[in-house]
Amino acid sequence: MPINAESGEFKPMIVAFCCNWCSYAGADLAGSSRLSYPADVKIIRVPCSCRVNPLFMLRAFQRGADGVIMCGCHPGDCHYTSGNYFARRRMALLFSMLEYLGIEKGRVRVEWVSAAEGQKFAITMNQFAETVAALGECKRLEDLRCQP
Ligand code: FES
Repeated sequence: MPINAESGEFKPMIVAFCCNWCSYAGADLAGSSRLSYPADVKIIRVPCSCRVNPLFMLRAFQRGADGVIMCGCHPGDCHYTSGNYFARRRMALLFSMLEYLGIEKGRVRVEWVSAAEGQKFAITMNQFAETVAALGECKRLEDLRCQP
């Protein structure tokens, strides 16, 4: 379990799938504007939010993530015209299955962040990290196959 060495607080591991054209650029802007967001947010750049299969998110939980967020262009602004509409539908399906899988809804989030919204990106990641930290460690989908 990742614990902050100084404060002894639980630090959640967060996986953020970001589309290349908007959200990744937003994350870049947050960084170049020196806005802070947790270092435990691991960004995975994808060409478009529609590239994110909901199984990728479940796999992230299986591999130790405590929270998973998907960020893409605002509806209507997708660089592949309608990719984020497909992504939105898939995520709605994933959200409907979370309870069945035993994963708290707060551990998964979808957010639309444009390339000009560095501040929104930082605020979103800080809020999400707080929410996930309050939920604690996610062990529900832990992969037990390789455990000694
Ligand atoms: Fe950003 Fe499609 S290119 S959501």
